[in-house]
Amino acid sequence: MGKKIAVLTSGGDAPGMNATLRAAIRAGIHYGDEMYVIYDGLEGLVNGDIEKVDKSFTGGIINRGGTVIRTARFPQFTDIEVQKKGVEQLEKKGIDAVIGIGGDGSYHGLLALSKLGVNVIGLPGTIDNDLQSSDETIGFNTTLETICDAVDKLKDTASSHQRCFVIEVMGRYCGDLALYASIAEGAEATITYDKKIPDEELYEKIRKVKAARKSHCIVIVSENLLDVNELAKKIQENTGYETRAQVLGHMQRGGNPSASDRILGARLGVRAVELINEGARNRVVGVVGGEVKDMDLEESLNVPRVPNEEFIKLLDILSE
Ligand code: F6P
Repeated sequence: MGKKIAVLTSGGDAPGMNATLRAAIRAGIHYGDEMYVIYDGLEGLVNGDIEKVDKSFTGGIINRGGTVIRTARFPQFTDIEVQKKGVEQLEKKGIDAVIGIGGDGSYHGLLALSKLGVNVIGLPGTIDNDLQSSDETIGFNTTLETICDAVDKLKDTASSHQRCFVIEVMGRYCGDLALYASIAEGAEATITYDKKIPDEELYEKIRKVKAARKSHCIVIVSENLLDVNELAKKIQENTGYETRAQVLGHMQRGGNPSASDRILGARLGVRAVELINEGARNRVVGVVGGEVKDMDLEESLNVPRVPNEEFIKLLDILSE
């Protein structure tokens, strides 16, 4: 017997969410399930904004950025009475399981639903790459490309003026975007949660870059760590290198998903539906060591984050 499966996207949008949604809907139809979408994430769930869809809903969305079923930040969902309203909406439609595509906050929302008896499957949709249940999250690759494209452009103007640029990238409290972008861009310095530099050491590094008459100097910084405008001023004062700050901001979340994110979304979206049809409950799906794997949702939220020592070492060697 086919199941009634609803899909929602929640938290910050990420490129590849549409490709993942498409994969889940098409897989459900392939396996004989009834497929639904929930608009506006957990907020739409509580408001009962749930619609049955067929294959035609997936037309032309695989390459689109953002999320066609929209998303929302909905802190009110920590209230159990609000959660119960969401459960009632699912019961009204007879939904058997919810697939939630989102990040850490969304996984906590799904966990709350699971505690009230709803079967949930979480898929890692976030640019931040901060979920321990997957080596890579859907959207991370595209955002990394977007950051590199922006840094390439900033290098042109930096070189023309012989300037230093301090560039802030997103990632919430995870430094992976900064770390990977720094390696891909050959940044002169990087400041992330896993890799901080004392001020004097940073200035010394930049003084050396200036003395070597390099035409530009790129410092990549993770958001939520420091004020990049202040840092730019301090670098200029302490090194004599003319410095500008640039916060890349929300443009990092936009754009068409990369082929890699579309394929990741396809793999995880199909597996989520298969798990539901196999009778699995409250799982998260990810790619671990190149293979699609699932694990218990609650357990996944308790796995400690391990800094990427290999990449940190690479940076140390390559930015000398
Ligand atoms: O989680 C994705 C993310 O883009 C983070 O990198 C960033 O800190 C946050 O969302 C920004 O949130 P908002 O879109 O609500 O401003």
